[in-house]
Amino acid sequence: MLSDSFLPYIQRWREIYGFEKTESIIQNLNMKDKRFIIPNILKISSNQLFSSIEKRGFILRETKMFNAFLIEKAPYNIVSTPEYLSGFFSIHALTSIIPPFSLELQKDDLVIDMAAAPGIKTSLLAQKLRNRGIIIAIEKSKARIPALRANISRLGIKNTIILFLDSMNLSFKDIMADHILLDAPCSGTGLKLEKNKRSSPRKMKDILRNTIIQKSLLEVGWNHLKPGGTLVYSTCSLEPEEGEIQIHNFLNRHINEVEVLPISFEIGIAGNQINWKFPLDSQLSKTKRIFPDIGFDGFFVALLRKVVS
Ligand SMILES: C[S@@+](CC[C@H](N)C(=O)[O-])C[C@H]1O[C@@H](n2cnc3c(N)ncnc32)[C@H](O)[C@@H]1O
Repeated sequence: MLSDSFLPYIQRWREIYGFEKTESIIQNLNMKDKRFIIPNILKISSNQLFSSIEKRGFILRETKMFNAFLIEKAPYNIVSTPEYLSGFFSIHALTSIIPPFSLELQKDDLVIDMAAAPGIKTSLLAQKLRNRGIIIAIEKSKARIPALRANISRLGIKNTIILFLDSMNLSFKDIMADHILLDAPCSGTGLKLEKNKRSSPRKMKDILRNTIIQKSLLEVGWNHLKPGGTLVYSTCSLEPEEGEIQIHNFLNRHINEVEVLPISFEIGIAGNQINWKFPLDSQLSKTKRIFPDIGFDGFFVALLRKVVS
């Protein structure tokens, strides 16, 4: 159950998203999430994985989204299967698939993942690139590097360099990327309660502190993006300051430099449909505000192309 410390959030969600949507947010945040698996195309085909997992007594259901299978019945934890240990699949919330799949990658591209651990999205980027090109996966928390390394090695990923670094210091490195993924650190208010380690949400002042970090990371990423390149920005937060408003302000700082590209997944609402204190940049209509649902966390995602001048 959402604790009383969520009350100020519930109040503001009602103002921003409306009463009905807020009721659905509360219901879904409380819900135990279903798990989805995605075949690792570097090692196995969907059909092969499907049949070998089902032989072990698991019941999987094909979904129309991203080649993902819903685990309908599990006789035991799927991470104990030889298929998992061999890196034949990864386990996902469907939301985490949207940012990497929004980037149109070419085989020799250089991609920077600015906030990478535990590497869920990095691994999907590597699969999309079919182990070609180069991914630089940056993580500033030493404690989170082993999980990132373990995922990358289990899945047989060979095109990824892990950098233990604060992405704010990327300005010291002479690197320009074709694409950037910034799955920014955030309050996590969109995460299902079972996944959210905090018993109460962050205070509003902490969220505002987050927005300053997100703003700096966005600027650093933008400086390391080649003209014509794309940057995908995402947060698992329901707070517009970490999503829509962050991008609205970014567009104001970079007039005529940014084309917002549409997110092609049919889910959520356009970022400019929220009820905010002032009108939002019309380009926000191409961003996505996603609400918690089965397989989905509360999420915001925007795809930005650097205009060639
Ligand atoms: C939302 S999580 C990323 C999840 C990851 N993209 C995935 O899909 O598995 C944010 C990560 O960014 C890291 N982080 C926060 N600030 C950072 C910074 N300035 N530079 C690099 N990593 C940072 C955090 O330690 C955390 O691991």
